[in-house]
Amino acid sequence: MKLAVYPGSFDPPTLGHLDVIERAAHLFDRIVVAVGSNSSKQPMLTPEERIEAIRQSCAHLKNVEVEGFSGLLINYVHGVGAQAIVRGLRATADFEYEFQMAMVNRRLSGEIETVFLMTTWEYSYLSSSIVKEVATLGGDYRQLVPGPVAAIIAKALKRPAT
Ligand code: PNS
Repeated sequence: MKLAVYPGSFDPPTLGHLDVIERAAHLFDRIVVAVGSNSSKQPMLTPEERIEAIRQSCAHLKNVEVEGFSGLLINYVHGVGAQAIVRGLRATADFEYEFQMAMVNRRLSGEIETVFLMTTWEYSYLSSSIVKEVATLGGDYRQLVPGPVAAIIAKALKRPAT
């Protein structure tokens, strides 16, 4: 049984994330999408909203589960018994950050491999930050995210700012 964890902050999940999940679900027996927090980013959606958004978007993928995690990713990966971490890779801009994260995780635990999957080129420009910016500035973000995510963003945008 080959199990992989696909971690991220997914704030919000995009069509690019869903594309990576679908590719990973073909390669591995089971995928756990692990929703964490990136301490350097200000979230738009709560962790519960992000988990629900991915669950609804992945309802057609029977070998995909979604959970929240906190603390060190590598401890979580060991805890669920996974052999690999999946990360999406867009053009060159992602490489340095992803390389650093993969090397730190390898240093912390040599037996967990990080596997990079590339999204289809149509989504290669997409990022959660871009979607967040378009959404908060009143642009049409619905073409950039799965349908269930768009509905959750619409609700979040009506929330009074804290
Ligand atoms: O989608 P993101 O924001 O690039 O996801 C980053 C995330 C949440 C996967 C990363 O920040 C993470 O793994 N956080 C947990 C803390 C940790 O393990 N840090 C050491 C590895 S860099």
